[in-house]
Amino acid sequence: MSHRNEATAALKALSVATDACRECPLGAHAPQSVFGEGPVGAVLMVVGEQPGDKEDLVGRPFVGPAGKLFDRAVAELGWSRDKLYVTNAVKHFKYELRGKRRIHKTPGQREAEACHHWLESEMELVQPQAFIALGATAARTLLGRPVAVMKERGQWIEDAATGRRVLVTLHPSALLRGDPAQREAAWEAWLKDLSVASSLVKKAAAKRPAPRPAAGHARRRVRMVME
Ligand code: URA
Repeated sequence: MSHRNEATAALKALSVATDACRECPLGAHAPQSVFGEGPVGAVLMVVGEQPGDKEDLVGRPFVGPAGKLFDRAVAELGWSRDKLYVTNAVKHFKYELRGKRRIHKTPGQREAEACHHWLESEMELVQPQAFIALGATAARTLLGRPVAVMKERGQWIEDAATGRRVLVTLHPSALLRGDPAQREAAWEAWLKDLSVASSLVKKAAAKRPAPRPAAGHARRRVRMVME
């Protein structure tokens, strides 16, 4: 088996193992864990905080409202989400019940620390060139210290201890919750932060061989040229 296939199989096994994780109390209340998603060798690993309500039900990261906003940013930047590895610092949804609604609760340090080894294993297997930390929980997990997101956002931070390059920015939920009058400016500032990673993404894309068009696709192009 190639290294890539072995690492992909190991990620799958880890994902199954996180379902059964009870190293903190969160797993007992969630239908499933939400593990990372994306290819081994992805140039960037994007780390969020924890799955939200939708992610917890679907079992995939960033598929709810925050994920939709992230997808919009990815499209705007000309990146492709399926080339990124997207994951969270904490693999189970922390919430409190209000009536029937499950309201997000920020994970505590204890939960983030209990989950940390899963993320370390993902990093080892995926081997990204750099990281994007979405929000304070992810930034703290990746840099091993409390991070003032508004002060340190939008620049590469090199972690001396691990050699990791981390770009810190706001969590997309912060934009969704923000003052509607400031929404446009907040969106532009967020895109500007994320765009710091664009040269890395584009360099990696340029190295990959161009995908061969499918036969049907090629035929369609020929017909268009002839029309
Ligand atoms: N927020 C996160 O941090 N991660 C998700 O997967 C969804 C929302």
